Amino acid sequence: MRFEKVRAFLATAAAVVLLGIGYVATPAQGAAMPAQRAEQHTVAFDQYSMIIDGQRTFLWSGEMHPFRLPSPALWRDVLEKMKAIGFNTVSFYFDWGYHSPAPGIYDFTGVRDMDRLLTIADQVGLYVIARPGPYINAETDGGGFPAWLATQAGRARSDAPDYLAATDEWQSAIDAIIARHQVTDGRGSVILYQIENELAATGASQRNYLQHLYDKARADGIQVPIFHNDKGRNGYWVPPSSTVPGTLPGPVDLYAFDGYPGGTCRTDGTVGSPNVAPDWGIQGAGGAKGGATASDKTPGFTAEFGGGWFDYWGSVGTYPCTALRQGPGYERVFYGANIANRLTVQNFYMVSGGTSWGWLPAPVVYTSYDYGAAIDEGRQLRPKAQTLKTLGYFVQSVAPLTKVDKGDDVPASSTAARIEHTVNAETGTNFYFAVHNPSNATTDDSFTFPLITADGSYTVPLRLNGQDAKTLVANYDLEGNHLVYSTSEIMTHLRGVALLHGRDGEAGETVLRYPTEPKVQVLEGAASAAYDAKTGDLRLTYSHHGIIRVRVTAPDRPSLTLLVADEDAAATFWRVDDVLVRGPQLVRAARVHDGRLALTGDTTASAPLEVWGPARTLTWNGKPVAARSSGGALLAVRHLPGPREIVLPDLTAWRYAAESPEAKPGFDDAAWRTAGLTSTNSTTKPPAGQVVLTADDYGFHHGDIWYRGHFDGPAPAAVTLDWGGGGAGLAQAWLDGAYLGQRTIPSGVAAPPTRNNDTFTVPPALLTDGPHVLSIMVRNNSHNEDGGVNDAHKEGRGVIGATFDGVVPSGVTWRVQGTAGVDPVRGPLNNGGLYGERNGWSLPGFPDRSWSARAVPDTSAVAGTSWYRTSFDLKIPADIDASLGLTIGDPATPRSDRHYRVLIFVNGWNMGQYIADVGPQHTFALPTGVLNPRGRNTIALAVTSDGEAALESVRLTTLGVARR
Ligand code: GAL
Repeated sequence: MRFEKVRAFLATAAAVVLLGIGYVATPAQGAAMPAQRAEQHTVAFDQYSMIIDGQRTFLWSGEMHPFRLPSPALWRDVLEKMKAIGFNTVSFYFDWGYHSPAPGIYDFTGVRDMDRLLTIADQVGLYVIARPGPYINAETDGGGFPAWLATQAGRARSDAPDYLAATDEWQSAIDAIIARHQVTDGRGSVILYQIENELAATGASQRNYLQHLYDKARADGIQVPIFHNDKGRNGYWVPPSSTVPGTLPGPVDLYAFDGYPGGTCRTDGTVGSPNVAPDWGIQGAGGAKGGATASDKTPGFTAEFGGGWFDYWGSVGTYPCTALRQGPGYERVFYGANIANRLTVQNFYMVSGGTSWGWLPAPVVYTSYDYGAAIDEGRQLRPKAQTLKTLGYFVQSVAPLTKVDKGDDVPASSTAARIEHTVNAETGTNFYFAVHNPSNATTDDSFTFPLITADGSYTVPLRLNGQDAKTLVANYDLEGNHLVYSTSEIMTHLRGVALLHGRDGEAGETVLRYPTEPKVQVLEGAASAAYDAKTGDLRLTYSHHGIIRVRVTAPDRPSLTLLVADEDAAATFWRVDDVLVRGPQLVRAARVHDGRLALTGDTTASAPLEVWGPARTLTWNGKPVAARSSGGALLAVRHLPGPREIVLPDLTAWRYAAESPEAKPGFDDAAWRTAGLTSTNSTTKPPAGQVVLTADDYGFHHGDIWYRGHFDGPAPAAVTLDWGGGGAGLAQAWLDGAYLGQRTIPSGVAAPPTRNNDTFTVPPALLTDGPHVLSIMVRNNSHNEDGGVNDAHKEGRGVIGATFDGVVPSGVTWRVQGTAGVDPVRGPLNNGGLYGERNGWSLPGFPDRSWSARAVPDTSAVAGTSWYRTSFDLKIPADIDASLGLTIGDPATPRSDRHYRVLIFVNGWNMGQYIADVGPQHTFALPTGVLNPRGRNTIALAVTSDGEAALESVRLTTLGVARR
């Protein structure tokens, strides 16, 4: 009966989410099944770059995780933003456990619809690097392993037959989807496929395992090149073509490695001194451990390069610091060094971190996986996204970058600076990457360096101020005009327009060469021009500030408009295909039809609109825009409007009910499973004489698990539990309904313990004769990752061992209860085994009218779990994308003395866990789709307290607002 009821709630829930998916997407954007074999494409490579259809291509990729954004309509939003800030590729991990609640069961529907994801990526115009594991790490529960795998006998990540049978299952399921989205047969944009991740054990068993994965992928129809991601730079699993001594060959086509050389955040949340960029390619030490140099016939490839870092339970909350630490200066220095090292396949981890909702977060992270990434958890572009844009546009605009060799050494006049020089032998184009030397990483230096190209010898002045680096281009065909060199960096160029950029207030010079003196018009800003008839050099000099516009017209050359921007101004430019736009805070797409240019994008404030493109008239988000031509561009007569202010409702009219009836002696647990197993494949065996109690062995994998131990005779004076609870896990205990207390697993460190030994003292008043019931609730804050290839994910969760007065008691009958089943919409990681969850209290349709009214913030609490529910209407206008969050307590004054935690259910979706006395997270992102922006929403909070700490304030917050 009870299960019937829950199923009815789940059906209501399904309706909510299916509606949710449509909140932002228009029908035309829905996922279509890919067409059959549209066109064939070739994907090849050499030591310089990937070569697609014969064309060298710099793959500039950002990582995002579909499983960290449970709203398919927002996948398009994030992917469009990635494309807009200069990426041509996206890298996806696929999380096995997210799709598989039990052996043989796989779900790719709703928020787990990977067909839809890959279709959107293709529509947006991004290549895809597919990374299906089977092991991914990624700070996910079990490192992406389904929790049922924790009960297997065979060693994971080896050639153990039971493990390989399981990975076959997963690969069959996910490969079927990936295979029909490959670029090779024109049905999609998947261009590369990764097997495993950071497999740092290198025995024969692992080699067999990798071979098995490779063969399986090929058998499943994967045609694109296959690679592995080497943990750091060990030279492990290079392709057989590598002739580099000391490397370990493996069954791969390409070699890739990862690195996170980002620096530190201090414990007070400020940025520590920056690290120095490594040379992990042609400028470095070389050899097996030199990074890309481990493989001499394949392109330099960072499968992951730090775009931020994750944060842990009980930290000070480092994401804002991380975003600065791996901010603009870091990006220029580190990603620039990678470019100078000929790493022509670069993937940044993460570009959009998202949310580890439900029971997804590994013990090492809390709910937010913001990561300090370029696109924050609320989907807003951080300033560092604008720097990425300059780099991304650059590598995609300047084709000679895809085939460079190390050039002659170039000395700088100051020992503070160094130049890394590369040359394209075919075009003669030179690249000079200027960066500080290690001990000068943050100094302000002006210096010169000799620039010697086919055009002659020059002494070039340059400045590096603080954590900064620049890549200068010389001897280059710039829109049919010959660029001798520029000390401004090239951002992009198209259709007779070149966009250069530099730091505000810094001097710049751009030298072009013409056989006769060209006409120079300064259209905006200040620049002077000098023509040297002897060399033919036209030297433009200026100081970067705002936008300087110069038009150069010479006979027999296409006329060239130079736009020289400072960094703030550069951030206002967007290149979309063949169109350059200035003004709005985001430009997503540009479609030209019959001389009419249809632009789509976002404004977060009123903004100008200026366009260089093949159009006479303009529309913005479907509405005509009056524009006049101006200096070769089209300029909107009026500014585009910004968003209107949005009003969020207060959360009131809370309803309240206490639960944890399992603590009461009379609770009926007859339907629960009796713990009768005597052996377990977990790495944590029960003590001799005790049955197995670990939750996974009884099929209860996530969230809370209850135990009731029935015994007779005298009560023990002390109960000691060996228990596994993951990061900041919790155990609460009652004897005969009397609360014995709670224990938590210590946090506040990056690699926290996940298992504890705790003693609960029984008060004298309870030391009576039986019968007794010991009730225990353990919150399982997820399974360990298996980074060390040592089956760490098999560490037991829940109670591992229980002793009474120091000995394993005989005659205890243990009953166990976890989740009531898998939510068919929200998936296996949404629910644990709280009484309320088992009875539909977390779901929007649950009838809570009979519950009592309650004020929030609350003033009293009971030991155990109680629920607070409220509903509210949102009326966000249809043209506003409001990114909302839920904030609990006061982030400015965190309270370590409040021992309570909250599971946050929004329309039934478990959007995270607030732990008041651990922190640091107070605000939880609620993606549109989970949240209905134009309708009714229900929040249900499961508050688990020590009986002293009461629920603090709860309110909706705005994470970002854009008009689109
Ligand atoms: C890498 C790993 C990723 C992720 C990352 C840290 O070493 O490959 O899966 O765990 O570290 O966020």
